[in-house]
Amino acid sequence: MPDTLTKLAYQTFQQGKQAFGYTHKTLMGRLREVVSPVNPGSKSEMPASTLAILKQRLDELTETDWQDAVAGVYPKSLLFDNPWDDFLKYYPVVVLDTPSVWDRSKNKQYQDFDTDISTEGYPDYYLQNFHHQTDGYLGEMSAHLYDLQVELLFNGSADPMRRRILAPLKRHIDNLPGMPKVLDVACGTGRTLKMIRDALPQTSLHGVDLSPTYLRKANELLSKEPGTLPQLIRTNAEALPYLDGYFEATVSVFLFHELPADVRQAVINECYRVTKSGGVFIICDSIQKLDTPEFEPMMENFPNVFHEPYYRHYSTDDMTARLESAGFSHVDVSNHFMSKYWVAKKVLIDY
Ligand SMILES: C[S@@+](CC[C@H](N)C(=O)[O-])C[C@H]1O[C@@H](n2cnc3c(N)ncnc32)[C@H](O)[C@@H]1O
Repeated sequence: MPDTLTKLAYQTFQQGKQAFGYTHKTLMGRLREVVSPVNPGSKSEMPASTLAILKQRLDELTETDWQDAVAGVYPKSLLFDNPWDDFLKYYPVVVLDTPSVWDRSKNKQYQDFDTDISTEGYPDYYLQNFHHQTDGYLGEMSAHLYDLQVELLFNGSADPMRRRILAPLKRHIDNLPGMPKVLDVACGTGRTLKMIRDALPQTSLHGVDLSPTYLRKANELLSKEPGTLPQLIRTNAEALPYLDGYFEATVSVFLFHELPADVRQAVINECYRVTKSGGVFIICDSIQKLDTPEFEPMMENFPNVFHEPYYRHYSTDDMTARLESAGFSHVDVSNHFMSKYWVAKKVLIDY
């Protein structure tokens, strides 16, 4: 297909996802007003000027995503990668599950887990219904619904935001011999690992996460297509079960806003330890307050609406200082749409 047609198809695909996400949220919002109304004072309309900035940022993200594919950072087919079977199977479940999400939110139930689920051995900060989702990160169904819920939240831009780690990762990996080892910390359902495998098939991939059900889902996703299976380990990112300097590159997507401040630092320290000298650590997470002051009211609202207990602290946290205190240097910071990226180097130590 000529490039202009492929680009048009990609833009249309993204616009379709945006329209779907927007329509879903509007309809569910209206239904909620009838079924489970929230306090009239707790809702605020977004000003038109903020909506215009959001739209512009989203268009820029789509363009960057396209340009990186054209530049060969990843195959163009990745732009159209979408878990359609999950969408058809689980979208009705997302809708049916929504009233219980509203109830949990209304009743301020933040540690609500099914009696069948063992919560033993997990750190307290983790035992939360993040996003008010049913069974937090521990349920089987939660793992099936998660990607769809994130795509709806970000109007189809979650994968384009995740893909922004691929250009700096490729720049680093392309110069290395053999099969460089890459670790995804808090890999969740495996979407980032799948992208890295498609973009950089010459890497040896590893993923860790605390959730057994999300790792099972990751295994299911990564087994669907040919390619070497990443090694997945269920572990706490505060104590990674790897030797010092084991990985040429370490990445982490959408983790740090869900950690208390001290744990945030402990995980960064661990990422420093397992990254090789001369290696790179790449973080993708939420934007922060100073990045776009116009989004500040939205960021104020986000932790309450989606139960994100550590987000408020994260939103003003100096992540560069944390990376430097762990030992990283040359920290490069950028923003794409609602995300922020830190690319940090572990300098080569010559003996
Ligand atoms: C918002 S999700 C992000 C998942 C995935 N990286 C993505 O791009 O969608 C946060 C993930 O972090 C994991 N997590 C949270 N705290 C963790 C910890 N201390 N150690 C390992 N994983 C953790 C959760 O189980 C969940 O899968």
